[in-house]
Parts: sequence; structure tokens; C-alpha cells
Amino acid sequence: MTTMAREMLRIDSIDAGYGPIAVLHQVSLSVGANESVAIIGANGAGKSTLVRAVCGLLPITAGAIRKQGAEISALPSHRRAREGIGIVLENRHLFGELSVRKNLELAEWHGLHRAVERRFTLADVVGLFPFMASRLDAAVQLLSGGEQQMVAIARALLLQPDLLVMDEPSTGLAPKVLRHIVEAVGTLRERGMSILLVEQNVALAAEVADRAYVMSLGRIVREIHPSEWAGVLDSGEVLRAYLGA
Ligand SMILES: Nc1ncnc2c1ncn2[C@@H]1O[C@H](COP(=O)(O)OP(=O)(O)O)[C@@H](O)[C@H]1O
Ligand SMILES: [Mg+2]
Repeated sequence: MTTMAREMLRIDSIDAGYGPIAVLHQVSLSVGANESVAIIGANGAGKSTLVRAVCGLLPITAGAIRKQGAEISALPSHRRAREGIGIVLENRHLFGELSVRKNLELAEWHGLHRAVERRFTLADVVGLFPFMASRLDAAVQLLSGGEQQMVAIARALLLQPDLLVMDEPSTGLAPKVLRHIVEAVGTLRERGMSILLVEQNVALAAEVADRAYVMSLGRIVREIHPSEWAGVLDSGEVLRAYLGA
């Protein structure tokens, strides 16, 4: 009972899909408090569908989603944000014509609805992504893809989440930008943020996640425990079996 309540996120046997198209089949997983968990899997495995179900953009048709013990399956997306689920979606969903500052201030304002102990401030997120200091007044659409990804993460943090969910933040990014993001995720882990990271890049997942689940054809087919990462990377078995590598 106590372990359940302390669990940041618990997904029990959920199904979800798009109308008649069933995508997720009895997916179960958990993210502990202060834990960083990755979901890895090939294109089309259902990872983004899972993210949409967690953040309330897609209804589930079976099972339950709980945050810190409380069922949130029926809450609309904005209520889940208020319950502390911060999301960085695949295509970032920033306001391109608005400045970095305006995008962040909007989130900061929404984040005021949450009573939390250690609040992220604008200064904190600029500290996390220093490039933003000189770009606060630039329109977001003028930034590079990597810079936009960092703004999307900063915005999610200003909503004051205790669970940060990211859908493939590495997609299309240059290695150097990727390092910035990996380091920022490392800092967030040190600060005790619980993280659910969807990632096709297994080496990257191993670097930032304590544990992982492998998803294939809408099912969780394997769990990778902390001590298994090295073996998974060395043998290549998981990559061959599930990631088409
Ligand atoms: N809006 C949608 N309508 C219908 N099918 C979709 C939609 N979005 C995704 N799918 C299907 O759901 C499956 C899983 O997609 P997705 O969750 O995006 O996978 P991943 O993120 O792992 O690449 C795919 O077969 C995809 O074609
Ligand atoms: Mg996806």
C-alpha cells in the first residue's frame, strides 16, 4: 500500500487506440519517485500513443493510470498537468511567433496553480539551458530544432511537474545539442525529478534512465533492470530483436 502511494506513476494493463485501431494492449509499467525510466522500441511500437494516454490526449479503453496512488485515467489533459505531469511532446507544440520569454511566462503562470516545495523559476531553467539567456526575446520559430527542444523542456518544468514525460527529445538533433539535453536531464535527476523518457536511441536511454521497458507492437515485451544495461548494450540482442538494428 505504501509503496503504491509513493509510486509516481503506475499504469495497469491499459488498452488504447484510435477508433477501431487498437494500438496499446495491456500495457503496465511504473515509475518510482525520483526514478528515471525509459521506454524504448522501434518506430510504430506505440510509444507516442502511450505518452498521449498518460497525458490525457487519448482516452484509454481498459485499465487504469494512477499518479501517487490517485487514479487520473478520466482527467482531461490540463488537469493532469495540474496534478504534476509535465509533457514534452514529439512536435514540441510551442507558440512559434511568440518569444522564448512569452512561451515560458505562459507556462510559469499556469504553474502557479500548483503548490510545490521547490519551484522552478525562469532563472532556474535559463541556468539549465544557458543559451536561452541571450535568446529570451527571440521568436521561437527563429531558433534551431535543438534550441526549441530545450525551450519545450523548460516550459514543461515551469508547470512545476513532479513527473516529466518526454517523447523522443533526441529526434533530429545534432550530437552537441544532445549533450546539453542529456546533461540537463542528469541535473533534473539529481534534483529528484521523476522521469519517463521515450527514446529510440538505446545508448542514450541507458545514460539517462535507471530502468527501461521495451515496447513492441503495442505491448511491453521486456523490462531492463539497472544491472542489465551493460549487457543489453554489449550483446545487441534487444536491439536486434525489437529495434530493427
Ligand atoms: N492518429 C492516429 N490515427 C491512427 N493510427 C495512428 C495514429 N497515430 C498513430 N497511429 C498508429 O499507432 C501505431 C503506433 O504509433 P506511435 O504510437 O506513434 O508509435 P511510436 O511512437 O512508437 O513510433 C502505429 O501503427 C501508427 O500508425
Ligand atoms: Mg513516437
